[in-house]
Amino acid sequence: MQKTIINSDDYTLLDFLKSDEPDPFAKAQPFYGYIEDLRRKGRYSYHRVVTTACTNKTTVLDPDRGGERRVLVMNSNNYLGLNTRPEVIQAAHEALMHYGSGLCGSRFLSGTYDLVVELEKRLAVFEETEAAVVFTTGYQANVATISALMRPGDIIFIDRLSHASVVDGCRVAGCAYRTYRHNDPDSLRRLMGRYAGRYRGKLVVAEGIFSMDGDMAPLPEIVEIAEEFGARIMVDEAHATGVVGPHGQGTVDFYDLHGRVDIVLGTFSKSLAATGGFVATSKEVANYIRHYGRAYMFTASPVPSTIAAVTAALEIMQREPALRERLWENIRYFSSRLKEAGFDIYPDPPQSAIITVKIGADAIVHAMSKRLFEEGVLMSTVVYPAVSPDEGRLRLSLSARHSRADLDRAVDVLSAAARSFEVAGMAGAART
Ligand SMILES: Cc1ncc(COP(=O)(O)O)c(C=O)c1O
Repeated sequence: MQKTIINSDDYTLLDFLKSDEPDPFAKAQPFYGYIEDLRRKGRYSYHRVVTTACTNKTTVLDPDRGGERRVLVMNSNNYLGLNTRPEVIQAAHEALMHYGSGLCGSRFLSGTYDLVVELEKRLAVFEETEAAVVFTTGYQANVATISALMRPGDIIFIDRLSHASVVDGCRVAGCAYRTYRHNDPDSLRRLMGRYAGRYRGKLVVAEGIFSMDGDMAPLPEIVEIAEEFGARIMVDEAHATGVVGPHGQGTVDFYDLHGRVDIVLGTFSKSLAATGGFVATSKEVANYIRHYGRAYMFTASPVPSTIAAVTAALEIMQREPALRERLWENIRYFSSRLKEAGFDIYPDPPQSAIITVKIGADAIVHAMSKRLFEEGVLMSTVVYPAVSPDEGRLRLSLSARHSRADLDRAVDVLSAAARSFEVAGMAGAART
């Protein structure tokens, strides 16, 4: 194969989406060169190879210097730090010994573990609904649920910054979907007014906490508008479960909207420290999804050790509100330290365990990320096309497992990097 030399400075991900070549694989070759060039320049911060448990710290392979490197983790959604709790590991271990590693089939055809049935009961109690359905991933929970319920001739309204799994659910459903301006109820009302009477079934899918920036949706207004137009409402609580609300149930709990939201979606990959997802809803809707949700039916059952780990994590999450309090202490402490250091954070004040720090041009974000890694801190980069080219940012996630020393170190390393790359607004902070 001919080698393609690409200077990554001249391209973005958008440049490799399409190609004029008849061979559908043709675009893969220049894209390979693009990623190789990013790697050579030390700007490729994805797919890091992790070699130990990921808590407040972990160990990763160092692609530049070789060998392993112990790093501070500021980019995991392990909000309550439950993935290494002895009770969680013990439950997973026992399930593995009892059931083996997997069912090797779908829940629909090959059988549903009693462990899953029990977890569904507990999730329904936790969410105060009649029923819950467990899925192998949170992504599938969105795709299966939305596409099972919505049909051509129906319409879905979603926020412009909705998660890919919400968008893909709309695509698979094959019905119309329209996006309203981010967190703008007036935009939703205008849009629903414009399409009133033109479609049959209506569904609004809101995200309680947005995955990129960690900001919270104005859910009371969204629910009110959905009710006004006779639409069903579904709320994705992926980043809110275990973090937000007096009982950790999420934004529905935070705003006390119990009983006014038709479907609540959650994932096991964040506070619940494993993989998988669920929806909590009425028994009729749950039953319908089990028989028409293709991403539920035509995929393998979750593995028993994961289900046992999630059940144990859910129990701890409910039993120990102190974990959530600890997380919020960390969020408050860290955000105030970032602001003292001169950083422009969003949202301000934080509304979840996700905080973004505005940096500027993509090149500076990449350079900062490289420096942070060299100093032993992992943070996620958010660059074009996810945001405008000059609005690159770092996305940080907090955990109850972080100590004050961890958070101080993250701020110190970030401040030093921002000073050396002359991040806008950081000049004053250079002398602190
Ligand atoms: C808002 C939101 N919904 C759904 C998902 C999908 O969940 P999972 O990664 O557990 O499949 C995510 C994952 O990041 C998410 O952020």
